Amino acid sequence: MAYKRCRIMNLIIISILFVAFYSFYRIISDRVCYCPRAHDQLLSLPEETCRQIRNSIILTQLKKYNHTFLMEQIKELQRCWWSVNGNALEDIRSELRACCNAGSNLLVTQANTHIGDYITYGTNRDKRIEVTENIHEMLPKVSPFPDKPFRRCSVVGNGGILLNSGCGSDIDQADFVFRFNLPPMNYAGDIGTKTDLVTANPSILHTSYSKLDEERKPFIDDLKAYKSALIVMPAFSFTSNVDVSFKVFHTLQDFESQQKVAYFHPDYLKNLALYWINKGLTARRLSSGLIIVSTALELCDEVTLYGFWPFSRGATGKPISHRYYDNKVPKPGFHSMPDEFFFYTQMHSKGILRLKIGTCY
Ligand SMILES: *[C@@H]1O[C@H](CO)[C@@H](O)[C@H](O)[C@H]1NC(C)=O
Repeated sequence: MAYKRCRIMNLIIISILFVAFYSFYRIISDRVCYCPRAHDQLLSLPEETCRQIRNSIILTQLKKYNHTFLMEQIKELQRCWWSVNGNALEDIRSELRACCNAGSNLLVTQANTHIGDYITYGTNRDKRIEVTENIHEMLPKVSPFPDKPFRRCSVVGNGGILLNSGCGSDIDQADFVFRFNLPPMNYAGDIGTKTDLVTANPSILHTSYSKLDEERKPFIDDLKAYKSALIVMPAFSFTSNVDVSFKVFHTLQDFESQQKVAYFHPDYLKNLALYWINKGLTARRLSSGLIIVSTALELCDEVTLYGFWPFSRGATGKPISHRYYDNKVPKPGFHSMPDEFFFYTQMHSKGILRLKIGTCY
């Protein structure tokens, strides 16, 4: 009798171990191995067709391109295999390092700026601000970026195209995740949960947090969604940005937050704008999208863009909301996003970065 009970116990223990091992295996395999199950069916275009589409995009000129046609083509390319072209990436990377060098110059730091230096404002270029001891103390000691590039980066735009994309876990699998303008984070399945760097435009502090003049707790609470991410602000683009950008620093300090804020270096932004003007972009100012994409190309071995789609309709003609968290229709002529998008489609076709459009499942 005791023998039989013992056998039953053994069987139960073995079953429990088996279930535990299997669940463990599922969790680990989902994390370690990226298995593009359904993707395989989508990668259905013949390579020859893919090559033709890529070539036609690469040969298109910025001044002459047809938005509708480009939308259709980039959508088609989602059904083609994409891989990094190391040489093409290295070429643009060495150009970007030579002109701009995000690794050490993206942000104002104690390493690139000294007490008594003057910083010239990005837009009000006849005005400059002296780096006092107080300001100097607010700056990070050195650039937060490592010398060795990150293996994979996700750059997550706020485009409505992310809704129902199911791209959250793809986005989170990157080693470094960039986001824009303190976006709402309650769409984990579509946008992921990870953030390593998030930009904040002073305008959002004016509209949503009354310039941090009054209650600052809601701001601190909202920032918790970005965990330990670095917050980056264009403090020295306009003279009017300085106050509120410094207030973010003091608010984080007063609330003993572990989060840090840093400021774009206006000289970096100026050099980067010149770089893209030389490539044919005519906009007066770069969007933060193109700034961060350029930065990511310098800092990452593989860059994937999500949520970049500056059109109010999808390639199939279906309306798409401007941002994934609201449905405000963009003002026509606001920024030169479609022209910047043109560069992304070219870089996608050349294997410099991957422009992800549509679903990830
Ligand atoms: C732009 O492309 C679309 C789709 O290919 C086409 O139907 C349309 O005629 C083109 N427009 C112009 C102005 O070439």
